[in-house]
Amino acid sequence: MKILLTADLHFHRPWFDWLRSEAPFFDLICIAGDVFDLEHPAGFLPQMIFLYAWVSDLARQRTPVALCTGNHDLPPGISLVRPGVSIASTDLPVIGHYAKATRWIQALKLDHQFAVDGDEKIVRTKSGESITVICCRYRADGRVDQWKPSTGKSLVLHHEPPANSQLAIPKAGNPELSLILAKLRPTWCMSGHVHFSPGEQNQFFERIGNTVCFNCRQNPPADRLPARPNTIVLDTSTATAAWRRWFSATSYDEIIARLE
Ligand SMILES: [Fe+2]
Ligand SMILES: [Fe+2]
Repeated sequence: MKILLTADLHFHRPWFDWLRSEAPFFDLICIAGDVFDLEHPAGFLPQMIFLYAWVSDLARQRTPVALCTGNHDLPPGISLVRPGVSIASTDLPVIGHYAKATRWIQALKLDHQFAVDGDEKIVRTKSGESITVICCRYRADGRVDQWKPSTGKSLVLHHEPPANSQLAIPKAGNPELSLILAKLRPTWCMSGHVHFSPGEQNQFFERIGNTVCFNCRQNPPADRLPARPNTIVLDTSTATAAWRRWFSATSYDEIIARLE
């Protein structure tokens, strides 16, 4: 199974376009939070309308997508539309879908191929391989909602990396996630949140107990970003993870790690 892992798109639209074009080449696409830009001048609603259209396009491609929230994804008390921003009347049905959802992200479950916060979804390939993907919502209080452990291989998406890991440096990481990983022992865990930091080691994977944890160390939001996001391609058949990291707007390198 080939899985594309990324995080922290921060509403950089070319990255969404690129992900959509890559979807046919993967068995699963995972985004570990921070799809939105908290500081976007238009506010949240235009971003949400874009995301809904993007998900609708992906639904036609039949590649499963798993998505969990991050701290930038519609935190409470944030303004939905900034003054002077107009919303097209043709977008009103989309706003209606969001309004009807218990939590906004639930509106993106257009069909069974999408998994969002709180979901545990089994993804199967034509060759018969299967994994369970678990999407954990972001909680500002640092708590982590536990999931039901599954037999077989599992992949957890949680925006903040586990505490005391190289993946969280130079931040502290999430202590409760570390405890739950030790207890439930998923096969893999994908995070983001701690972007590339100059001067740090910027590790992209680390084995913590029975779990191989990842962070794609996304480029922080900037005026000029590369055409593609940082990504990790997890190939379960070869037990490898290939981290493609863009270190300028035009150049990247790739590190391939053996996981067994
Ligand atoms: Fe982020
Ligand atoms: Fe974040």
